[in-house]
Amino acid sequence: MSVLDHPDFDAHEGVHFFYDPQTQLRAVIAVHSTRRGPAAGGTRFWSYASSADALTDALRLSKAMSFKNAMADLPLGGGKAVVLRPDGAFDRDALFQKYGQRLNRLGGSYITAEDVGMTTRDLEIIQAETPYAAGVTTGPSASGDPSPITAKGVFLGLQVAVVHRLKKDSLRGLHVAVQGLGNVGFNLCGHLHDAGACLSVADINPERVQNAVAEFGAKAVPIDEIHQCDADIFAPCALGGAITPHTLSELKVAIVGGAANNQLLTPEMGVALRQQNILYCPDYVINAGGIINIAAELSGRYELSWVNLKLEQLKETLLTVFETADSQNKATSEVADQMARERIFSPGED
Ligand code: NAI
Repeated sequence: MSVLDHPDFDAHEGVHFFYDPQTQLRAVIAVHSTRRGPAAGGTRFWSYASSADALTDALRLSKAMSFKNAMADLPLGGGKAVVLRPDGAFDRDALFQKYGQRLNRLGGSYITAEDVGMTTRDLEIIQAETPYAAGVTTGPSASGDPSPITAKGVFLGLQVAVVHRLKKDSLRGLHVAVQGLGNVGFNLCGHLHDAGACLSVADINPERVQNAVAEFGAKAVPIDEIHQCDADIFAPCALGGAITPHTLSELKVAIVGGAANNQLLTPEMGVALRQQNILYCPDYVINAGGIINIAAELSGRYELSWVNLKLEQLKETLLTVFETADSQNKATSEVADQMARERIFSPGED
């Protein structure tokens, strides 16, 4: 199968492959669209079972970034990169240095930031090689780690979902099952705990689970049971594909909303969630806080007040998606996809 025939190709403007035998760099950079501006999205550093899996991930994440940036009304297109983690020993700094150099070849059509598996240091190494990297920690316009803003956006979005679906104006006393306690998931737990929600949590990293138990009084749940919790909300904050036919059949919640990208294994899962009367907060709408924060940096003048204004817009957009889905009897994922495509592709343009 060629890239052009890939089921997730979705008319990508460009897909770039970089290979460097010396550093063991193997990277896929997918640029879905630059219609609204340079394609922006993080770089994922991950051990993939195969290079085909890496390509699929890059294509799906890249399209999601296009949709996310359009729904957040940012002057950015969508792209995403994956760097395949080498098997065995490797020089991490040299690998990210080479990656940064290769990014220059795209001439700014793709701007990277941090994603799963990357550290702040990795980003600094990249930034020393290329201007096409955001999420910096120093300098007048530095926006730093976007995760706390992503978590805040998810929390605000869940508040909107709770009002809409449960007719409650607070999360106090609600039970939230959080899958994944990384940079975003753990921060989200903090907001939920402060709001009086009770938490069940799961992570493949036992230390993170212990921290959530100690800090938020969360209940630890095995990773393959977190979606089964008899809770009000399921918040996927790990990797993609949390909603599958199997997990869907075991969900007992009223709302699904979290930070993870590509939560639906297939688009049909969105329709199935609606059929089960579960309100799904489309991932690329509710988790846009991080890219909003990065957009503030890219504007050349970071202002937290602007970021907060955009988070208010995120809430309004989410509510519009919920209300349109109800009035048109459609899945929220279908409504969001349609809105995003309309914002990206103006009729008549090629
Ligand atoms: P992270 O790498 O800090 O955290 C991910 C966590 O998920 C880790 O603690 C990991 O151990 C855990 N995990 C992995 N597989 C798991 C499993 N099967 N069950 C339970 N836990 C598992 O990543 P981060 O930054 O917190 O991002 C989380 C998700 O949110 C990712 O899908 C990411 O793409 C997405 N996202 C992150 C943004 C950000 O600002 N960091 C912005 C928008 C989306």
